[in-house]
Amino acid sequence: METPHGLSVEAFTRQSKLFEFLDDAGRQRMMRIATRQIYAAGQTVVTEGDPGDSFFVIAKGSVNVSVDDFGRQKRVATLGQGSFFGEIAVITDQPRSATVTAADALELLRFDKAPVQEILREYPRIRELLAKMGVRRSEDTLEKMMNDDPETTVEVGAKPQDPPPVDDE
Ligand code: CMP
Repeated sequence: METPHGLSVEAFTRQSKLFEFLDDAGRQRMMRIATRQIYAAGQTVVTEGDPGDSFFVIAKGSVNVSVDDFGRQKRVATLGQGSFFGEIAVITDQPRSATVTAADALELLRFDKAPVQEILREYPRIRELLAKMGVRRSEDTLEKMMNDDPETTVEVGAKPQDPPPVDDE
């Protein structure tokens, strides 16, 4: 089968455990709509607050997931090979809940939202799984936002502090 990423069905299926929840027909449909994307370390894949038009599976490398915490980026997770992200916007139609950046050389399989939604309508089990994962991740993010662990706060794009007030007297 000619695909934009050149993977066989077997190689595609091995990219993520997620695809094991589909049958052959579902895997082939996902395969046909997948495109391969390459990012260098530090590049942004999705930005918190933007409309979400796609879903991703990590084929190689890893990503950092971070959220805005009063002007500082707070890292809430690192996801590696075989993990997926972008399911929240695809399932809920809400804007991106977090910023995702390449932690190192990154290769992704990208799936456009509309055809993914169409496929998921026919595979309610995997849709339910993604929806549950999205809820769990949103709760996890909220919990980490409330917990000021310096280990998870990264100074990426920090806003400069306001200068101290000038005393005229
Ligand atoms: P989405 O909101 O579409 O875009 C950002 C993605 O980051 C989000 O979907 C999830 O896939 C992922 N994400 C958000 N919060 C977390 C978290 N706490 N742990 C892991 N992944 C997360």
